[in-house]
Amino acid sequence: MAERGGGPAAPFVAVRGLNVHFRRSRKAGESVRAVDGVDLDIFTGETLCLVGESGSGKTTLVRAIGHLAPITSGSVRLGDVDAAQLPRKELRSMRRRVQYVFQDPFESFDRRQSIFSIVSQPLRVHKLASSRAELESKVYEALEECGLDPPGEFAKLYPHQLSGGQRQRVSIAAAVVLRPELLIADEPVSMLDVSVRSDILSLFVRLKESHRMTLLFVTHDLSVAWEIADRIAVMYLGKVVEEGTADQVIGRPANPYTHALVTAIPVPDPHAAAPPPGVKGDIGDIVGIPAGCRFHPRCPYALDRCSQTAPPLAEVGEGHRSACIRNEELELAPPHRLVAGTAG
Ligand SMILES: Nc1ncnc2c1ncn2[C@@H]1O[C@H](COP(=O)(O)OP(=O)(O)OP(=O)(O)O)[C@@H](O)[C@H]1O
Ligand code: SF4
Ligand SMILES: [Mg+2]
Repeated sequence: MAERGGGPAAPFVAVRGLNVHFRRSRKAGESVRAVDGVDLDIFTGETLCLVGESGSGKTTLVRAIGHLAPITSGSVRLGDVDAAQLPRKELRSMRRRVQYVFQDPFESFDRRQSIFSIVSQPLRVHKLASSRAELESKVYEALEECGLDPPGEFAKLYPHQLSGGQRQRVSIAAAVVLRPELLIADEPVSMLDVSVRSDILSLFVRLKESHRMTLLFVTHDLSVAWEIADRIAVMYLGKVVEEGTADQVIGRPANPYTHALVTAIPVPDPHAAAPPPGVKGDIGDIVGIPAGCRFHPRCPYALDRCSQTAPPLAEVGEGHRSACIRNEELELAPPHRLVAGTAG
């Protein structure tokens, strides 16, 4: 696992045995195991990207980490604090340490509020400015560092007067104005024009460095993860099936599911190797999760025993883990499709 200064570092976020199960309303007894027994460490100052197909449980997991989703069982610790054990008052102050940026800022804004009102609201809620002058100074600083310059002009505008990229900058400003320790961004560039995506990604990286934040970044786009991640965790039907550094997970994936995802990244290279045997179908219904390895109905390498045994995440290299009962015997060809500088 990640080493800092010679010894194994304690994770800043430690997720253990986490389950988030929902009841499906109409059919009593049926439960949706959106997050199903997840262990995950996030280290101080790193960018961890959470990737996986739609419906794999990424949003539910990150919401549970910030205690925005109800936790069925298991624990999430931030530093040495288990938020589930905190009284309500302390939970509020813990929440300030964790801020979110969502996919669609328009959805989370009150459209009748000015940009000043949107970015100053978290400061007002947490009583972090003792005067109007201090409030203005903090809001303008946040707007400026998020590229909304001159801040005084942007502060007077309303969300509908901004472009999609500018709106996302506002929601980033409203998150970083509280100086969180953990910033969680859930698909923050997927609704933006390609032309502004890379500016917004660079903004995340810059803010993370300058404010020494830890960044948990959700994306279904592996080329985005390749661009910004220190480490990557891959989810499939509620479970983490592979984790490791970006080089390990994208350059040398060990799990057949990750391998298929990486091989499917389109790159404009006529000499690229032919893709491996294709993955069948889609992620399927989360209510009818297959027994054994959840990926077995789609896996090109599945054997009979894959439908009987659920593979745990097991070490396949230093800090690199994969959940596959064939970890030892499968030699997946390196995808050859994504080398430094080709993503995007
Ligand atoms: N409140 C809820 N009640 C019932 N089912 C839910 C609820 N929230 C999420 N789910 C289900 O849990 C599963 C995981 O959903 P989630 O939104 O976490 O996936 P995701 O990986 O973020 O997908 P996407 O990439 O589309 O955002 C899905 O099948 C979803 O329908
Ligand atoms: S356990 Fe079997 S089905 Fe699952 S990923 Fe490995 S080979 Fe494929
Ligand atoms: Mg989601």
